[in-house]
Amino acid sequence: MTFDNSVDIVAPARDEDPTSALVATGREWWRNAVIYQIYPRSFADDSGDGIGDLRGITSRLPSLVELGVDAIWLSPFFVSPQRDAGYDVADYCDVDPLFGTLDDFDALEDAAHALGLKIIVDLVPNHTSSDHAWFRAALTAAEGSVERARYMFRDGTGESGELPPNNWHSVFGGPAWTRTTNADGTPGQWYLHLFDTTQPDFDWDNPWVREQFRDVLRFWLDRGADGFRVDVAHGMIKEAGLPDYTPVEGGSMGGATVLDLGSIPGAAPAAPYWAQDGVHEIYRDWRLILDEYPGDRILAAEAWVDPLSHVAEWVRPDEMHQAFNFAYLETAWSGPTLRRVIDDSLAAFGAVGAPSTWVLSNHDVVRHASRLALNHENLQGHGIGPKTPDLPDTVIGLHRARAASALMLALPGSSYLYQGEELGLPEVIDLPDSAREDPTWFRTNGERYGRDGCRVPLPWEATAPSYGFGPSAASWLPQPDEWAGLARDAQAGVAGSTLELYTSALRLRREHALGLGSVEWLDGHADEIVAFTNGAVTVVANTGSASVPLPTGELLLASGPLPGNTLPGDTTVWLRAQP
Ligand code: GLC
Repeated sequence: MTFDNSVDIVAPARDEDPTSALVATGREWWRNAVIYQIYPRSFADDSGDGIGDLRGITSRLPSLVELGVDAIWLSPFFVSPQRDAGYDVADYCDVDPLFGTLDDFDALEDAAHALGLKIIVDLVPNHTSSDHAWFRAALTAAEGSVERARYMFRDGTGESGELPPNNWHSVFGGPAWTRTTNADGTPGQWYLHLFDTTQPDFDWDNPWVREQFRDVLRFWLDRGADGFRVDVAHGMIKEAGLPDYTPVEGGSMGGATVLDLGSIPGAAPAAPYWAQDGVHEIYRDWRLILDEYPGDRILAAEAWVDPLSHVAEWVRPDEMHQAFNFAYLETAWSGPTLRRVIDDSLAAFGAVGAPSTWVLSNHDVVRHASRLALNHENLQGHGIGPKTPDLPDTVIGLHRARAASALMLALPGSSYLYQGEELGLPEVIDLPDSAREDPTWFRTNGERYGRDGCRVPLPWEATAPSYGFGPSAASWLPQPDEWAGLARDAQAGVAGSTLELYTSALRLRREHALGLGSVEWLDGHADEIVAFTNGAVTVVANTGSASVPLPTGELLLASGPLPGNTLPGDTTVWLRAQP
């Protein structure tokens, strides 16, 4: 859907830019970068097998330059049986044939660098695939062997070890332990997997594991990677003794379950497998390795931890550079809560000298064009599907998503975009059950839909087979018919399209150096209005449903139509700040 929006986008002259020394020298590029997440399975398919690949990504890089992003983050493309879409790695230092070869990676990286794009790869250190040679060796090795000591093997409880070592649950549903079978067919020890059965957890107390990951980091740094997004960066270390733990209701990757509320009477204790102090030693070690390399390489933490002051521990000066701001992602579309989370983010990250990050969508959550119109809580990873009550209104969802993105892109710090949000793609709700692949769906017997709905292959060309995702009609998840109208070529150059909104926002953001600016709140507005200046730009977001008078000033950007000089609900504008 596009908005017939006659807003004249006025760009300031380049010589007005308050471009800082940081940007001028190219140092610390990550402090204000817009980083675009590519989910390789679903971005672009060169081979025609219906699954995206590295050559497909390379061929489409120019469109990301047109969009105006600074860097790309690639979800895993490593050797993997794909039981968790590549987050189950069987070889950290090679490309899965599904996605191509190491040569294809090198070509992609060269092309990205030639276009001025940084490239961040995904590191999955909490667990391997059960197909990894290390785990296979552990399964056939004896109890107490060095091979088993790399993972979390334990004897069972109960009279004959028939019960798991403790009561932990997998993030994807079901128990977090699986029992092995000995070579003679008798039941053996159990191993821990915080995710799927096919994703055994490492024992990070084992120095051997640490040494392997130093090598993995060096492997990709030597190849020229500009950094790593670190998967489950709040996992890895488990509390000694692996005590029982019953999570309070919360998001599956953490949420309330990781709240460190020990001092609050009656509150849940921190989970013994999330956010243990020991993880920080690992990142300090990795930081030393990254710092050996030229060119400002970065570590970005996926740490589902509350509150933000706790997340900030991951980005202390000698640890990582960025941490995803999931508190922002999980904030409802409401003025008071948005103001609070923005303040909290800037304060928490600022206190350790790190930039705040901002994110609204990724491959694990319901796309924000649908999520922001949900009238009920949706826990991370649970997804929505045909039987979800009270399904979101797509028109409201798109309005809110555009307004929310325009708000986010005006904030100082670094923003993450998830592929397809620049097209306004909604969550795909009516996927046939037979097409679903997320282990969450299987491990909960369909009780949770999981994450497939945000992973449907992108539409590039309205009239091509698979909407130009690949050369054939094949697409590993079916694309809805309505996506013809959302295809990139149907939006490019069309005034009022979501793609043009993002493109304009990124250009203005760069020209006004908003990523390096600050938030000065503007008082005197109703509760539903989020209003601030960032340098030369005034940003006003109306999160309510009623129109308010359009603030005066030269209009730079509008997320939707502005009838009769009003700012309607679910709309954000950027104006040139009044002197
Ligand atoms: C992270 C990934 C998610 C994956 C999980 C297990 O949360 O983002 O997709 O399933 O880790 O690796």
